[in-house]
Amino acid sequence: KKDAGIGDTLHPKPVETAAVIGAGVMGGGISWLLSSKGIPVRMKDVKWEAIATGMAAASDYFGQLVKRRKMKKGAAKLAMHRISGTTDYTGFRNVDLVIEAVVEDLEVKQSVLVDVEKRIREDAVIATNTSSLSMVDLGKGLVHPERFVGMHFFNPVNRMPLVEVIAGPKTSQEAIAKVIDLTRKLGKTPIVVNNCSGFLVNRILIPYLNESAYMLQEGTSMERIDKALEDFGLPMGPFALADEVGIDVGLKVARILESSYGERMQVADIMKDAFEEYHLLGKKSGKGFYIHEGKKMRPNE
Ligand code: NAI
Repeated sequence: KKDAGIGDTLHPKPVETAAVIGAGVMGGGISWLLSSKGIPVRMKDVKWEAIATGMAAASDYFGQLVKRRKMKKGAAKLAMHRISGTTDYTGFRNVDLVIEAVVEDLEVKQSVLVDVEKRIREDAVIATNTSSLSMVDLGKGLVHPERFVGMHFFNPVNRMPLVEVIAGPKTSQEAIAKVIDLTRKLGKTPIVVNNCSGFLVNRILIPYLNESAYMLQEGTSMERIDKALEDFGLPMGPFALADEVGIDVGLKVARILESSYGERMQVADIMKDAFEEYHLLGKKSGKGFYIHEGKKMRPNE
C-alpha cells in the first residue's frame, strides 16, 4: 500500500537511460531487462572479459525470447545494440540512473559508489543491487545520500518477478518513486522493505538454504531434499537454487547474515567447504552441488 502511494503521487521523471556497474550474473541480467524495455544501457566492469560475459548473458536472455517466439530475431539484435560496454565512466553523464551490481563486498561497493557519484549528473539516482549489505554503511561516503536507493533484483532476472526497494536513512521520496516507477515499467513487482541485513527475501531464503545444508550434513541425500521441496511446489530444490544463485554469492550473503543475527544463522560447514575447500561456484562455472552440462544436471559426487 505504501509503495503504491509513493509511486502514484509523485509522478517521477521516467528513467530514459541507465548504467549498470558490474557485468556479472546480475549485471548482465539487469542490462538485458533494461534494454528489452527500450532503455539504453552503459555496462561497466573492470575488465573487458567480464563485459563479454555480461553481454553473453544478455544475449542468451534475448535468445530465449526469440526461441519462445516472444521476440523477432531482428528486434533482439537491435535491443542488444542498446547495451554498450565500458571499463571507464564514459557516457555516465548522460544517464538518469546507475545500478551498482559489483561483488558483494562492502569496501569494493563503497569505493565504486563514491567514484560513480563524481561521474554522474546531480539529478541522477544511484541504486545498489546489494543482497545483504546495509544501506547505512553503503551510503556513508556519498555527498548526496538522498539519491541513493536499494533496488534488489533476483536471479534469474528474466524469471523472478519481485524487486525489493530499500530506502537508506536519507533517501528521498523522489528517488524511491523513480525506482518504483521504473520497476513497474520493467514489468516487475516493487516491494518497499526495511533496511535490515538480508532485507525481506534473503532473510528468509538464506536460512532455508542453510538448514537444507545442515540436513545434508546429518545424512539426508541432496537429491531427496531437492525432490521433496519440488514436490512441495517450489520451482526447484534448495541445492539446485544454491547452484543457480552461485555458491560464492550465497555464502557471502550467508556470512553477512550470520554476523548480523548470530547463532540462529550460523553457516553450515558444507556450504563453506563447497566454495572454500572445493572451489565450487554452481551453474556459472558448470560445477556446484550438481554438475551442469548444458541444460542437464547430475549430482556432483
Ligand atoms: P558476479 O561475481 O557474477 O559479478 C560481479 C561483477 O562485478 C564481476 O564481473 C566483477 O568483475 C565486477 N566488479 C568487481 N569489482 C568491480 C569494480 N570495482 N567496478 C566494476 N565492476 C566490478 O556477481 P553477481 O552474482 O552478479 O552479484 C552482483 C551483486 O548482485 C552482488 O551485490 C550480489 O549480492 C547481488 N545479487 C546477486 C544475486 C545472485 O543470485 N547472484 C541475486 C541478487 C543480488
